[in-house]
Amino acid sequence: MITFEHVTKQYADGTVAIEDVSFTVEEGTTTVLVGPSGCGKTTTMKLVNRLEDPTEGTVYRDGTPISEFDPIELRRNTGYVIQEIGLFDHMTVGDNVATVPKLNDWDEEAIDARVDELLELMDLPPAKYRNQHPTELSGGQRQRVGVARALASDPDVLLMDEPFGALDPITRESLQDEFLKIQDELETTILFVTHSIDEALKMGDRIAIFDVGEVVQYDTPQTILDEPKSEFVEDFIGSDRPLKKLKVTRVEDVMSATTEGFTAAADGGTGTTATVQGNGGSTVDALEPTDTALSALSRLVASDVGRLPVVEDGEVVGTVSNEEISRSNEGARP
Ligand SMILES: Nc1ncnc2c1ncn2[C@@H]1O[C@H](COP(=O)(O)OP(=O)(O)O)[C@@H](O)[C@H]1O
Ligand SMILES: [Mg+2]
Repeated sequence: MITFEHVTKQYADGTVAIEDVSFTVEEGTTTVLVGPSGCGKTTTMKLVNRLEDPTEGTVYRDGTPISEFDPIELRRNTGYVIQEIGLFDHMTVGDNVATVPKLNDWDEEAIDARVDELLELMDLPPAKYRNQHPTELSGGQRQRVGVARALASDPDVLLMDEPFGALDPITRESLQDEFLKIQDELETTILFVTHSIDEALKMGDRIAIFDVGEVVQYDTPQTILDEPKSEFVEDFIGSDRPLKKLKVTRVEDVMSATTEGFTAAADGGTGTTATVQGNGGSTVDALEPTDTALSALSRLVASDVGRLPVVEDGEVVGTVSNEEISRSNEGARP
Protein backbone atom coordinates (compact mmCIF):
# COMPACT_ATOMS: atom_id res chain seq x y z
CA MET A 1 0.00 0.00 0.00
CA ILE A 2 1.21 3.50 -0.86
CA THR A 3 -0.19 6.58 0.87
CA PHE A 4 0.34 10.22 0.02
CA GLU A 5 -0.57 12.54 2.88
CA HIS A 6 -0.68 16.27 2.12
CA VAL A 7 2.39 16.01 -0.07
CA THR A 8 3.94 19.11 -1.63
CA LYS A 9 7.04 19.10 -3.82
CA GLN A 10 8.81 22.32 -4.66
CA TYR A 11 11.97 22.07 -6.74
CA ALA A 12 15.10 24.08 -5.93
CA ASP A 13 14.29 26.65 -8.65
CA GLY A 14 10.97 27.44 -6.94
CA THR A 15 8.68 25.37 -9.21
CA VAL A 16 5.88 23.84 -7.17
CA ALA A 17 5.34 20.55 -9.03
CA ILE A 18 2.59 19.21 -6.76
CA GLU A 19 0.75 20.81 -3.86
CA ASP A 20 -1.08 19.14 -0.99
CA VAL A 21 -1.66 15.82 -2.77
CA SER A 22 -3.35 13.01 -0.80
CA PHE A 23 -4.40 9.57 -1.99
CA THR A 24 -3.95 5.89 -1.18
CA VAL A 25 -3.05 3.08 -3.55
CA GLU A 26 -4.41 -0.21 -2.21
CA GLU A 27 -2.17 -3.25 -2.24
CA GLY A 28 -2.28 -5.31 -5.41
CA THR A 29 -4.22 -2.70 -7.40
CA THR A 30 -3.29 -0.41 -10.26
CA THR A 31 -3.67 3.33 -9.86
CA VAL A 32 -3.22 5.50 -12.91
CA LEU A 33 -2.03 9.10 -12.65
CA VAL A 34 -3.38 10.99 -15.64
CA GLY A 35 -3.32 14.61 -16.69
CA PRO A 36 -1.79 17.07 -19.14
CA SER A 37 1.95 17.42 -19.56
CA GLY A 38 3.73 19.22 -16.73
CA CYS A 39 1.00 18.66 -14.12
CA GLY A 40 3.24 16.72 -11.73
CA LYS A 41 2.69 13.03 -12.57
CA THR A 42 6.36 12.06 -12.91
CA THR A 43 7.25 14.03 -9.78
CA THR A 44 4.56 12.14 -7.84
CA MET A 45 5.97 8.85 -9.06
CA LYS A 46 9.56 9.76 -8.17
CA LEU A 47 8.49 10.42 -4.59
CA VAL A 48 7.57 6.73 -4.26
CA ASN A 49 11.10 5.39 -4.76
CA ARG A 50 12.82 8.46 -3.31
CA LEU A 51 14.28 9.74 -6.53
CA GLU A 52 12.84 12.93 -5.03
CA ASP A 53 11.79 13.77 -1.47
CA PRO A 54 8.74 15.86 -0.55
CA THR A 55 9.06 19.42 0.66
CA GLU A 56 6.02 18.96 2.88
CA GLY A 57 3.82 16.02 3.85
CA THR A 58 4.60 12.31 3.99
CA VAL A 59 4.65 9.35 1.61
CA TYR A 60 4.09 5.99 3.32
CA ARG A 61 4.76 2.47 2.14
CA ASP A 62 2.67 -0.03 4.10
CA GLY A 63 2.17 2.53 6.84
CA THR A 64 5.86 3.40 7.31
CA PRO A 65 7.09 6.85 6.22
CA ILE A 66 9.45 6.19 3.33
CA SER A 67 12.01 8.58 4.80
CA GLU A 68 12.71 5.67 7.18
CA PHE A 69 13.72 3.33 4.34
CA ASP A 70 17.17 3.19 2.85
CA PRO A 71 16.78 4.67 -0.67
CA ILE A 72 18.89 1.92 -2.28
CA GLU A 73 16.89 -0.87 -0.63
CA LEU A 74 13.69 0.91 -1.54
CA ARG A 75 14.64 1.17 -5.21
CA ARG A 76 15.61 -2.49 -5.42
CA ASN A 77 12.19 -3.38 -4.13
CA THR A 78 10.48 -1.06 -6.61
CA GLY A 79 10.26 -1.87 -10.30
CA TYR A 80 10.56 1.16 -12.56
CA VAL A 81 9.59 1.24 -16.22
CA ILE A 82 10.00 4.42 -18.24
CA GLN A 83 9.25 5.42 -21.79
CA GLU A 84 12.17 4.59 -24.11
CA ILE A 85 13.30 2.28 -21.37
CA GLY A 86 17.00 2.63 -20.63
CA LEU A 87 17.98 -0.91 -21.60
CA PHE A 88 21.71 -1.65 -21.63
CA ASP A 89 22.43 -2.13 -25.33
CA HIS A 90 25.81 -3.78 -24.77
CA MET A 91 24.18 -6.50 -22.66
CA THR A 92 21.97 -9.38 -23.81
CA VAL A 93 18.24 -9.37 -23.19
CA GLY A 94 18.75 -12.04 -20.51
CA ASP A 95 21.40 -10.01 -18.70
CA ASN A 96 19.21 -6.91 -18.85
CA VAL A 97 16.37 -8.77 -17.16
CA ALA A 98 18.80 -10.24 -14.59
CA THR A 99 20.10 -6.82 -13.46
CA VAL A 100 18.31 -6.48 -10.13
CA PRO A 101 18.38 -10.17 -9.07
CA LYS A 102 22.18 -9.98 -9.58
CA LEU A 103 22.37 -6.86 -7.41
CA ASN A 104 20.36 -8.77 -4.83
CA ASP A 105 22.87 -11.65 -4.94
CA TRP A 106 20.48 -14.35 -6.12
CA ASP A 107 22.27 -17.55 -7.07
CA GLU A 108 22.81 -18.17 -10.74
CA GLU A 109 20.27 -20.95 -11.16
CA ALA A 110 17.50 -18.90 -9.57
CA ILE A 111 18.37 -15.97 -11.81
CA ASP A 112 18.33 -18.11 -14.98
CA ALA A 113 14.98 -19.62 -14.05
CA ARG A 114 13.50 -16.20 -13.28
CA VAL A 115 14.75 -14.70 -16.54
CA ASP A 116 13.21 -17.53 -18.56
CA GLU A 117 9.95 -17.30 -16.65
CA LEU A 118 9.65 -13.56 -17.30
CA LEU A 119 10.61 -13.70 -20.96
CA GLU A 120 8.02 -16.43 -21.38
CA LEU A 121 5.44 -14.28 -19.57
CA MET A 122 6.23 -11.30 -21.82
CA ASP A 123 5.81 -13.42 -24.93
CA LEU A 124 9.52 -13.40 -25.78
CA PRO A 125 10.46 -17.12 -26.00
CA PRO A 126 13.78 -17.33 -24.08
CA ALA A 127 15.40 -19.77 -26.54
CA LYS A 128 15.08 -17.11 -29.20
CA TYR A 129 15.47 -13.84 -27.29
CA ARG A 130 17.60 -14.43 -24.19
CA ASN A 131 20.90 -13.98 -26.04
CA GLN A 132 19.84 -11.26 -28.44
CA HIS A 133 20.75 -7.63 -27.86
CA PRO A 134 18.14 -4.88 -27.37
CA THR A 135 19.21 -3.25 -30.64
CA GLU A 136 17.95 -6.33 -32.53
CA LEU A 137 14.42 -5.93 -31.17
CA SER A 138 11.39 -3.87 -32.22
CA GLY A 139 10.16 -1.01 -30.03
CA GLY A 140 7.36 -3.16 -28.61
CA GLN A 141 9.75 -6.00 -27.81
CA ARG A 142 12.19 -3.64 -26.11
CA GLN A 143 9.40 -2.29 -23.97
CA ARG A 144 8.48 -5.87 -23.02
CA VAL A 145 12.07 -6.45 -21.92
CA GLY A 146 11.79 -3.27 -19.86
CA VAL A 147 8.69 -4.60 -18.10
CA ALA A 148 10.35 -8.01 -17.55
CA ARG A 149 13.39 -6.29 -16.06
CA ALA A 150 11.24 -4.22 -13.72
CA LEU A 151 9.41 -7.35 -12.51
CA ALA A 152 12.54 -9.50 -12.16
CA SER A 153 13.01 -9.36 -8.42
CA ASP A 154 9.28 -9.58 -7.78
CA PRO A 155 8.97 -6.05 -6.37
CA ASP A 156 6.12 -5.05 -4.07
CA VAL A 157 5.64 -1.88 -6.08
CA LEU A 158 5.90 -1.28 -9.81
CA LEU A 159 6.18 2.26 -11.18
CA MET A 160 5.41 2.73 -14.87
CA ASP A 161 5.92 6.20 -16.33
CA GLU A 162 4.26 6.40 -19.77
CA PRO A 163 5.60 2.88 -20.45
CA PHE A 164 3.84 2.47 -23.78
CA GLY A 165 3.86 6.13 -24.81
CA ALA A 166 6.48 5.82 -27.55
CA LEU A 167 4.84 2.87 -29.32
CA ASP A 168 2.62 2.92 -32.38
CA PRO A 169 -1.11 2.58 -31.55
CA ILE A 170 -1.40 -1.09 -32.52
CA THR A 171 1.64 -2.22 -30.55
CA ARG A 172 0.49 -0.08 -27.64
CA GLU A 173 -2.95 -1.74 -27.59
CA SER A 174 -1.45 -5.20 -27.66
CA LEU A 175 0.99 -4.43 -24.84
CA GLN A 176 -1.85 -2.94 -22.80
CA ASP A 177 -3.91 -6.09 -23.33
CA GLU A 178 -1.02 -8.37 -22.40
CA PHE A 179 -0.19 -6.29 -19.38
CA LEU A 180 -3.81 -6.38 -18.19
CA LYS A 181 -3.65 -10.19 -18.25
CA ILE A 182 -0.35 -10.30 -16.39
CA GLN A 183 -1.56 -7.75 -13.89
CA ASP A 184 -4.33 -10.14 -12.80
CA GLU A 185 -1.71 -12.70 -11.82
CA LEU A 186 0.64 -10.29 -10.06
CA GLU A 187 0.20 -9.18 -6.49
CA THR A 188 2.19 -6.07 -7.23
CA THR A 189 0.91 -2.61 -6.38
CA ILE A 190 1.17 -0.59 -9.56
CA LEU A 191 1.40 3.15 -10.14
CA PHE A 192 0.99 3.93 -13.84
CA VAL A 193 1.45 7.36 -15.45
CA THR A 194 -0.10 8.38 -18.74
CA HIS A 195 -1.44 11.52 -20.40
CA SER A 196 -4.07 9.46 -22.24
CA ILE A 197 -7.50 9.24 -20.61
CA ASP A 198 -8.27 6.17 -22.75
CA GLU A 199 -5.22 4.35 -21.43
CA ALA A 200 -6.08 5.42 -17.88
CA LEU A 201 -9.65 4.11 -18.15
CA LYS A 202 -8.40 0.83 -19.60
CA MET A 203 -5.55 0.13 -17.19
CA GLY A 204 -6.65 1.61 -13.86
CA ASP A 205 -8.54 0.10 -10.94
CA ARG A 206 -8.47 3.68 -9.78
CA ILE A 207 -7.55 6.89 -11.52
CA ALA A 208 -6.05 10.07 -10.09
CA ILE A 209 -6.82 12.96 -12.44
CA PHE A 210 -4.29 15.78 -12.17
CA ASP A 211 -4.77 19.42 -12.99
CA VAL A 212 -1.66 21.57 -12.58
CA GLY A 213 -0.03 20.30 -9.37
CA GLU A 214 -3.16 18.84 -7.76
CA VAL A 215 -5.34 15.75 -7.82
CA VAL A 216 -8.83 16.91 -8.80
CA GLN A 217 -10.55 13.51 -8.72
CA TYR A 218 -9.52 10.09 -7.43
CA ASP A 219 -12.05 7.39 -8.24
CA THR A 220 -12.73 4.19 -10.17
CA PRO A 221 -13.07 4.52 -13.96
CA GLN A 222 -16.82 3.90 -13.66
CA THR A 223 -17.32 6.66 -11.10
CA ILE A 224 -15.18 9.12 -13.05
CA LEU A 225 -17.35 8.52 -16.11
CA ASP A 226 -20.64 8.64 -14.21
CA GLU A 227 -19.79 11.50 -11.87
CA PRO A 228 -17.01 13.76 -13.12
CA LYS A 229 -16.38 16.17 -10.26
CA SER A 230 -15.68 19.31 -12.26
CA GLU A 231 -15.80 20.86 -15.67
CA PHE A 232 -12.07 20.24 -15.98
CA VAL A 233 -12.63 16.49 -15.54
CA GLU A 234 -15.58 16.53 -17.94
CA ASP A 235 -13.49 18.30 -20.58
CA PHE A 236 -10.58 15.96 -19.98
CA ILE A 237 -12.80 12.91 -20.55
CA GLY A 238 -14.21 14.45 -23.72
CA SER A 239 -17.64 14.46 -25.32
CA ASP A 240 -17.69 10.70 -26.02
CA ARG A 241 -18.25 9.76 -22.40
CA PRO A 242 -21.01 7.20 -23.17
CA LEU A 243 -18.70 5.42 -25.59
CA LYS A 244 -15.89 5.38 -23.04
CA LYS A 245 -18.31 3.98 -20.47
CA LEU A 246 -19.21 1.12 -22.82
CA LYS A 247 -15.52 0.23 -23.00
CA VAL A 248 -15.08 -0.06 -19.23
CA THR A 249 -18.37 -1.89 -18.65
CA ARG A 250 -18.39 -5.66 -18.87
CA VAL A 251 -21.15 -7.87 -20.16
CA GLU A 252 -21.37 -9.64 -16.76
CA ASP A 253 -22.18 -6.30 -15.12
CA VAL A 254 -25.16 -5.52 -17.37
CA MET A 255 -26.58 -8.86 -18.54
CA SER A 256 -30.06 -9.99 -17.66
CA ALA A 257 -30.43 -13.37 -15.94
CA THR A 258 -33.04 -14.37 -18.53
CA THR A 259 -31.76 -17.25 -20.61
CA GLU A 260 -35.07 -18.24 -22.14
CA GLY A 261 -34.80 -19.14 -25.80
CA PHE A 262 -31.14 -20.12 -25.76
CA THR A 263 -29.29 -23.32 -25.03
CA ALA A 264 -25.59 -23.94 -25.14
CA ALA A 265 -24.41 -25.34 -28.45
CA ALA A 266 -25.10 -29.04 -28.88
CA ASP A 267 -21.51 -29.79 -29.80
CA GLY A 268 -20.60 -29.42 -26.14
CA GLY A 269 -19.51 -25.98 -27.05
CA THR A 270 -16.21 -24.20 -27.13
CA GLY A 271 -17.98 -21.72 -24.89
CA THR A 272 -18.51 -19.24 -27.70
CA THR A 273 -21.65 -20.36 -29.50
CA ALA A 274 -25.22 -21.00 -28.46
CA THR A 275 -28.31 -22.34 -30.15
CA VAL A 276 -31.33 -20.12 -30.62
CA GLN A 277 -34.51 -22.05 -29.93
CA GLY A 278 -37.61 -21.52 -32.04
CA ASN A 279 -35.55 -19.98 -34.78
CA GLY A 280 -34.94 -23.16 -36.71
CA GLY A 281 -32.32 -24.05 -34.10
CA SER A 282 -29.84 -21.67 -35.66
CA THR A 283 -26.53 -20.96 -34.00
CA VAL A 284 -25.37 -17.53 -32.85
CA ASP A 285 -22.01 -16.38 -31.62
CA ALA A 286 -22.33 -15.92 -27.90
CA LEU A 287 -20.80 -13.24 -25.71
CA GLU A 288 -18.45 -13.99 -22.86
CA PRO A 289 -19.03 -12.43 -19.43
CA THR A 290 -15.78 -10.46 -19.66
CA ASP A 291 -16.51 -8.98 -23.10
CA THR A 292 -17.02 -5.21 -23.03
CA ALA A 293 -20.47 -3.67 -23.37
CA LEU A 294 -19.07 -1.97 -26.47
CA SER A 295 -18.35 -5.26 -28.21
CA ALA A 296 -21.78 -6.55 -27.15
CA LEU A 297 -23.40 -3.48 -28.68
CA SER A 298 -21.38 -3.83 -31.83
CA ARG A 299 -22.47 -7.47 -32.19
CA LEU A 300 -26.10 -6.59 -31.51
CA VAL A 301 -26.01 -3.95 -34.21
CA ALA A 302 -24.54 -6.44 -36.66
CA SER A 303 -26.93 -9.25 -35.75
CA ASP A 304 -30.58 -9.79 -36.66
CA VAL A 305 -31.22 -11.26 -33.21
CA GLY A 306 -32.29 -8.58 -30.69
CA ARG A 307 -30.80 -10.37 -27.72
CA LEU A 308 -27.51 -12.24 -27.49
CA PRO A 309 -26.68 -15.13 -25.16
CA VAL A 310 -23.77 -14.97 -22.71
CA VAL A 311 -21.96 -18.27 -22.37
CA GLU A 312 -19.56 -19.33 -19.65
CA ASP A 313 -18.06 -22.82 -19.29
CA GLY A 314 -20.44 -24.19 -21.91
CA GLU A 315 -23.57 -22.86 -20.14
CA VAL A 316 -25.83 -19.97 -21.11
CA VAL A 317 -25.62 -17.75 -18.01
CA GLY A 318 -27.57 -14.71 -19.22
CA THR A 319 -28.52 -12.53 -22.16
CA VAL A 320 -27.93 -8.97 -23.31
CA SER A 321 -30.01 -6.63 -25.45
CA ASN A 322 -29.77 -2.92 -26.31
CA GLU A 323 -32.04 -2.22 -23.37
CA GLU A 324 -29.62 -3.46 -20.70
CA ILE A 325 -26.74 -1.70 -22.40
CA SER A 326 -28.60 1.63 -22.59
CA ARG A 327 -29.63 1.40 -18.97
CA SER A 328 -26.04 0.78 -17.81
CA ASN A 329 -24.96 3.85 -19.75
CA GLU A 330 -27.41 6.35 -18.25
CA GLY A 331 -24.89 7.80 -15.79
CA ALA A 332 -22.40 8.65 -18.50
CA ARG A 333 -24.70 10.91 -20.52
CA PRO A 334 -23.27 14.41 -20.54
N1 LIG B 1 14.15 18.77 -11.54
C1 LIG B 1 13.26 19.75 -11.74
N2 LIG B 1 13.56 21.03 -11.41
C2 LIG B 1 12.65 22.03 -11.58
N3 LIG B 1 11.42 21.85 -12.06
C3 LIG B 1 11.06 20.60 -12.41
C4 LIG B 1 11.96 19.48 -12.28
N4 LIG B 1 11.30 18.37 -12.69
C5 LIG B 1 10.08 18.75 -13.09
N5 LIG B 1 9.93 20.10 -12.91
C6 LIG B 1 8.71 20.90 -13.19
O1 LIG B 1 7.68 20.41 -12.34
C7 LIG B 1 6.44 20.41 -13.01
C8 LIG B 1 5.88 19.00 -13.04
O2 LIG B 1 6.73 18.16 -13.84
P1 LIG B 1 6.48 16.62 -14.04
O3 LIG B 1 6.27 15.99 -12.71
O4 LIG B 1 7.59 16.09 -14.85
O5 LIG B 1 5.10 16.61 -14.85
P2 LIG B 1 4.43 15.49 -15.79
O6 LIG B 1 5.12 14.20 -15.55
O7 LIG B 1 3.00 15.50 -15.41
O8 LIG B 1 4.61 15.99 -17.19
C9 LIG B 1 6.71 21.00 -14.40
O9 LIG B 1 6.45 22.35 -14.36
C10 LIG B 1 8.19 20.73 -14.60
O10 LIG B 1 8.76 21.68 -15.46
MG1 LIG C 1 6.08 12.94 -16.92
